[in-house]
Amino acid sequence: MNLQTAYNIDDLRRIAERRLPRVAHDYLERGAEDDVTLSLNRSALEAIRFAPRTLVDVSKRSQATTLFGGRYDAPFGLAPTGAAGLYCFEADVALARAAAAANLPFVLSTASFVAMERVAREAGGTKWFQLYANKDHEATGKLVRRALDAGYEALVVTVDVPVGANREYNLRNGFQIPFRMNLRNMIDGMLHPHWLANVFLRTLMTSGVPRFQNVDTDVGGRIVAKNLAEFRARRDALDWTDFAWMREIWPKKLMVKGIMTAEDALAAHRHGADGVFVSNHGGRQLDGLGSPIEVLPEVVAAVGGKLAVMIDSGFRRGTDIVKAHALGADIVFVGRATLYGAAAGGEAGAARAIEILKGEIDRVMALLGCNTVDELAPEHLRLPRDGT
Ligand code: FNR
Repeated sequence: MNLQTAYNIDDLRRIAERRLPRVAHDYLERGAEDDVTLSLNRSALEAIRFAPRTLVDVSKRSQATTLFGGRYDAPFGLAPTGAAGLYCFEADVALARAAAAANLPFVLSTASFVAMERVAREAGGTKWFQLYANKDHEATGKLVRRALDAGYEALVVTVDVPVGANREYNLRNGFQIPFRMNLRNMIDGMLHPHWLANVFLRTLMTSGVPRFQNVDTDVGGRIVAKNLAEFRARRDALDWTDFAWMREIWPKKLMVKGIMTAEDALAAHRHGADGVFVSNHGGRQLDGLGSPIEVLPEVVAAVGGKLAVMIDSGFRRGTDIVKAHALGADIVFVGRATLYGAAAGGEAGAARAIEILKGEIDRVMALLGCNTVDELAPEHLRLPRDGT
């Protein structure tokens, strides 16, 4: 199987699985603890059924989507994914370029391996910056100012990581950033020579040990380990007053990522947010949390029209994306779908993932009798609680 014979996201996932050593594969694929929430993300989406309208002229259908005055060619964007550079060489640039070429929004993670300034310079397109804040306003303010200077158009503050998740496989696999090779990973790397040569060694030779360049490298490119400690310190002390402070220092669009209740969406609104990401971090943080698609209707009822409502976690098919729009999401974000593509074939692989999803969305819209994303409505669905 190659990129062109990968017909769906799961095909890309299988190519990625073959290419990656366990330490990288598990970090991409697994969730937290027993992966209960990870599987719920899929089963909750799959449990929703469609209610199509027939004999509607859909010959002029379009999946163009507007958000914050910007117009995008499809109703989804690329979610922030830290350590993506473990999947292909300089994945942050590759993903941002694929998104720009497809005219989709791209969110760069604080935990990227390529510094935010370089991604901004080299990628073009709509770029938002995802912020891992901490209680130290000086350290957080430095990152925010850099994102502003680099031209990022929106700040996405991730709030579902007050502490690191319980991911036991990372401990077993010896996963750590800055990335260090232990003997087992070295042997596994040798069994995955494409990854070893084209991802790990290439990164090592061009920019040194794979690491979070936004936080542990100074402006001259030197590794400054104390920044990394600063970056992780006291994240568990954050509260809404810190968010209100971010509102004061960030003049552009501001979003909260990791909202799972209507109450928190309302709090985000009160504290000046422009949008919320209904998200359980792809099932990677609190195991036992429900799926965002289940709480989306409550969040839309509470803040829809006042705030942009975004959603991610578990989206692998055009049908999934269409279901979220029918329930009132303004835009959907995908994390793993495009990462599988990047692991399978770099920028071209990410572009292939986007192409697959767009093709699926187009077909579903036609089958539902919809010409525009705005026409998608709850009437096009039968929810599990309706007894189907
Ligand atoms: C993530 N996610 C994430 N979120 C965030 O706010 N900052 C980050 O640095 C990361 N890093 C990260 C790494 C990897 C490997 C994955 C898979 C995910 C979560 C991400 O933004 C998004 O919420 C989920 O990926 C969405 O779920 P799916 O599409 O992966 O199922």
